[in-house]
Amino acid sequence: MIVPGSGSQSLAAALSAALDEPLAPVEFERFADGELLARVPEFEGERAVVVAATDSSDAHVELLQLQDAVADRADEVVTVVPYMGYGRQDERFREGEPISARAMARAISTGTDRVLVVNPHEPGVGEFFDVPFTAVDASARLAEPLPDDLREPLFLAPDEGAIDLAATVRDAYGAGATDHFVKHRDRETGAVEMEPSQVDAGGRDVVLVDDIIATGGTMSEAIDQLHGHAVGRVFVTCIHPMLAASARTRLERADIEAVYGTDTLERAVSCVSVAPAVAADL
Ligand code: R5P
Repeated sequence: MIVPGSGSQSLAAALSAALDEPLAPVEFERFADGELLARVPEFEGERAVVVAATDSSDAHVELLQLQDAVADRADEVVTVVPYMGYGRQDERFREGEPISARAMARAISTGTDRVLVVNPHEPGVGEFFDVPFTAVDASARLAEPLPDDLREPLFLAPDEGAIDLAATVRDAYGAGATDHFVKHRDRETGAVEMEPSQVDAGGRDVVLVDDIIATGGTMSEAIDQLHGHAVGRVFVTCIHPMLAASARTRLERADIEAVYGTDTLERAVSCVSVAPAVAADL
């Protein structure tokens, strides 16, 4: 049975359809003191697949509760984390800090037989789990909503870390070049500029590809730089459309064609489902 977290109901439904496994009924409550209660009143079958993005502290608690709610009724509990919160705090950046991704992974491991995380920021977080771990790569799905008539498309990562994602989207699209931005500092003015490291973007349609849009700062800067290079249309794509604070407005105000994200986080731009990629790894 597929057991959805409150923020992952669309993905859980898509997964239920893809796997032909029933969707468990769930109830969510918040008590007067602020505590949460996630309930699974009916459960049938042998395997429980808990599907819950952990994009907030409440969502973390809810995931642990869902695991516990089915633990005594399922032979196997599999946990799918479409978006892993705290995944970017994967090392001790300053003395005295926790490795938050490790703390979260340990907690999640206690209630499950195995874990799947969709496109974690660093695949190395897998080592923090105490149970078998799979990093699901759903990036090829981002080619799906792109128009068929892209002109000399350039699949561009805002930094070197996302170049593999850009290459996967290009391969899935079937045409185009890939590149990533590099930063240059003007020796005279000291001003920092970003531009593609190898490919001249002029006249091309550009598809920006990143794993996450959080504040939208990274993408906005990339879009600004591109418009100085007389590019064609600009499409923004990401796996995890967190779109925190004013990110959606920042992107809306930039001169772009569209923003496409997946349903690892359920937002208005989540037009692509990662369900087929998750189903293939389950
Ligand atoms: C950085 O390494 C990530 O891949 C993203 O580029 C970054 O986390 C996006 O954050 P923001 O939208 O706040 O710039």
